[in-house]
Amino acid sequence: MSASQVNQLLTENRVIVFAGSGGVGKTTTAAALAAHGAQLGKRVVVITIDPAKRLADALGVGGTLTNEPSRIELSASGELWATMLDTRTTFNALIHRYSQTPEQADRIIANRFYQNIAGSLSGTQEYMAAEKLYDLYNDPRFDLVVVDTPPTRQALDFLSAPARLTRFIDHPLYRILIAPANAGLKVISTLTQPVVRLISKVIGTQALEDTVEFFQAFQGLDAGFRDRAVAVETVLHDKLTQYVLVSTAQTDAISEACFFTDTLRKQKIEPALLILNRMQPRFTDHGLVDTQSIDSADLALLEENLARFHRLANAQDESAQIFTHSAPEIPIARVPFSAALLDDQEKTLVALCSLGALLARAD
Ligand SMILES: Nc1ncnc2c1ncn2[C@@H]1O[C@H](COP(=O)(O)OP(=O)(O)O)[C@@H](O)[C@H]1O
Ligand SMILES: [Mg+2]
Repeated sequence: MSASQVNQLLTENRVIVFAGSGGVGKTTTAAALAAHGAQLGKRVVVITIDPAKRLADALGVGGTLTNEPSRIELSASGELWATMLDTRTTFNALIHRYSQTPEQADRIIANRFYQNIAGSLSGTQEYMAAEKLYDLYNDPRFDLVVVDTPPTRQALDFLSAPARLTRFIDHPLYRILIAPANAGLKVISTLTQPVVRLISKVIGTQALEDTVEFFQAFQGLDAGFRDRAVAVETVLHDKLTQYVLVSTAQTDAISEACFFTDTLRKQKIEPALLILNRMQPRFTDHGLVDTQSIDSADLALLEENLARFHRLANAQDESAQIFTHSAPEIPIARVPFSAALLDDQEKTLVALCSLGALLARAD
């Protein structure tokens, strides 16, 4: 992949999603390319869904990232912003947006069932990630949204979250749960429905009452949520939304990248790029300069080391072939191991920007 292709990826798209297994450098490369995008003149916002504070660390801004994007100091013709998904705040904002009255919003937000699902339920987090992405996509302050996903195999579940939400709203059980309110009846009449009685045996009466109360308070919001889910899904599949895979040359990370490729292709999405991160740099094999001044035992050690580095680089190339065989159409950008990122003192935006620029030159 040429520099102009990476630059094009950043300048011609609206959303770039980074996916890959844990520890391969998703957060680092997402932040690096976001910073490079800012240097190309774009107003970029990078969002992390990962609750670990890695993005803040990578950007060198301490633990200060919140659900509201904050501007990162950077000398660039564009702008760099960063934010961290807060599922509960995002969900509350949606409830306020679609409630008919502030009282309805308050009733929902105070409900115990809502409080349980809003912060922690796994499907909720994925949907809110997609929702937040959609929100940033529509925010006139930004040209490009860069998404750093969490380090799990389910990282791409947010792609199907909007469809799951619409399926749920259309489900007959959901209709039963909200039916009595439609007819102006009380919660109790729902609880007498056989299917609902069965559920109460499993989850307990109190939990069920909270649930039914929640759905009844939710009355009238479903249409808004449904339309929104459809719009969110459209953005995830838009042609200006691109997916970048990140991996190291470790075989298990490569097979995860192959797994993510399959997951995306099942959704009819073709990954735009594979970043092979932390690659062993290839040193010159012209021998060492000024070998006269080096002790011969040291020289033998250095030469043996150089030979090992070569073998390591060759082994990494072989692992990378696994991906190339399974997805030959996807371009690859190789990023060398950068010692600057190891040093906490230097792990600053400067190191990140040079990594971004390097990535844009990688092939
Ligand atoms: N090219 C690189 N060279 C050296 N260290 C790197 C490089 N890319 C990432 N790292 C380091 O690897 C670790 C994991 O990176 P991170 O971006 O948090 O991975 P992920 O988000 O995929 O879990 C971090 O300590 C980071 O500084
Ligand atoms: Mg990360």
